[in-house]
Amino acid sequence: MSNNKWWKSAVIYQIYPRSFADSNNDGIGDLQGMISKLDYLENLGINAIWLSPVYKSPQDDNGYDISDYRDIDPMFGTLGDMERLIAEAGKHNIRIIMDLVLNHSSDEHHWFQEAKKSRENPYHDYYVWRDGKEGVPPNEMRAAFGGSAWEWVPEIQQYYFHQFSVKQPDLNWENPKVRQEIYDMINWWIAKGVGGFRLDVIDLVAKEPDRQITTNGTRLHEFIRELSRETFQKADLVTVGEAWGATTQLAKLYSNPDNSELSMVFQFEHICLDQVEGKEKWDLSPLPFLKLKEVFARWQKELYGKGWNSLFWDNHDLPRIVSRWGDDGKNRTKSAKMLAILLHGMQGTPYIYQGEELGMTNVAYGIEEYRDIETLNMYKERLENGYKEEDIMKSIHAKSRDNARTPMQWNDGKNAGFTDAVPWIKVNPNYKEINASQQVEDENSIFNCYKKLIRLRKDYPVFVEGDFKLLLAEDENIFAYIREDEEAQLLVICNFYGQTPECPLEDMASSMELLICNYEDIEQPATLRPYEARMYWKAKK
Ligand code: GLC
Ligand code: CA
Repeated sequence: MSNNKWWKSAVIYQIYPRSFADSNNDGIGDLQGMISKLDYLENLGINAIWLSPVYKSPQDDNGYDISDYRDIDPMFGTLGDMERLIAEAGKHNIRIIMDLVLNHSSDEHHWFQEAKKSRENPYHDYYVWRDGKEGVPPNEMRAAFGGSAWEWVPEIQQYYFHQFSVKQPDLNWENPKVRQEIYDMINWWIAKGVGGFRLDVIDLVAKEPDRQITTNGTRLHEFIRELSRETFQKADLVTVGEAWGATTQLAKLYSNPDNSELSMVFQFEHICLDQVEGKEKWDLSPLPFLKLKEVFARWQKELYGKGWNSLFWDNHDLPRIVSRWGDDGKNRTKSAKMLAILLHGMQGTPYIYQGEELGMTNVAYGIEEYRDIETLNMYKERLENGYKEEDIMKSIHAKSRDNARTPMQWNDGKNAGFTDAVPWIKVNPNYKEINASQQVEDENSIFNCYKKLIRLRKDYPVFVEGDFKLLLAEDENIFAYIREDEEAQLLVICNFYGQTPECPLEDMASSMELLICNYEDIEQPATLRPYEARMYWKAKK
């Protein structure tokens, strides 16, 4: 297996552009704002930035509805700013990863504007149309943001298919012309010097609506292989596909070391554990801890030597991990570091979502402060279906995407230093206590824990190469594992909860060197304090 790919030892930082840094005080983050924070990111030590979409967009779904793939939305800046960001980031040894939304475009994209004019229009076949009668859609399929997946266009007496909002019509990948347009556009960005791509809901592109199939359609991997051949394989890029429907079996196809598809995928098996099975993410259920360990262990084991994992807790669609599976009260710092140490010791490429390195938390606003289309549609739909408002708000506080989308907390000044204007979404009120400027200075901060973990991954090859073995699989409090390659061993021991369990791994640890921990010293090696995490290393003779 070729282990010399740059992205195997890299750590990637995700920026949600509208919430990162506002340079011109209109309340919305922008490209110049990002440029002004490159020193901060270089200090943290990350190697690449994945940028959620900054393309021209009506912002129905915060940029995941693109109306021009080759231009930047004026809200974020200009194409010139984008070129400057790529160049300036390069000087900080940071690559820029663009978000590719290829399953759908905006309904305001000129392809769609043409497509809906007539059935004969050359762009008509760029989208997925079916005949029908008004009020009687072709089938019962539902859109992810609520309502039918079919939208009637009276002018041409047809329905178009949309898996997300009505303003996000699905592209027709069966049409080779569509695929060619996409390849040309990607190659245009590659020529601009980007370092890679994140592929939005890539497992949906080979949809077969007549068979009610969206995820993992028959032609999916054929399409991805063609895409990869025509674009990514021509350059030294990292590519990561968002694939909610991935199993380990499928992930081995996607991330085959022969480079025929992608570098890796984001899979969500661990992320979906705290919801009622078969229901929606809003239907909350406690995290099954033993299952969490089993899921990680299986992915680590199955992909070893046969694929590559991505490692993440957070992104712009998920709640804040410290609020979700840590303790965002009294043990916030300890538990955020524990979660970091636990994840960063595994095999794969770690992703840090903006603010995760500060232990930023969820918010609990009233409904009028929410901006996310998914949250607002669900709120309306569930009210109509008779849910209690109180229960709906409980789900929103736990799982809304806006938990991750509040402005980055830079300092304890006005609006957390994000903007001088009214921010597009309310700042988390805890910014005086949780902010970057305070944590950069404090050597015991969460920020400096992440910084150290990133450094360790560079210094110790066992992070990249080692295999994975879960320890204490049945323990109800401790998540522990060992990584091993020809030269060394790495041992990670994490107390996942606020209890003080006995740790039966003391003997093993006693012969090893402590690389990082989240308490200042190890007092009683055989007992773990609340959320205590330790990482040990040892060379093999
Ligand atoms: C992905 C994105 C999400 C978006 C959706 C539709 O899941 O991460 O933010 O709403 O695709 O593009
Ligand atoms: Ca701005």
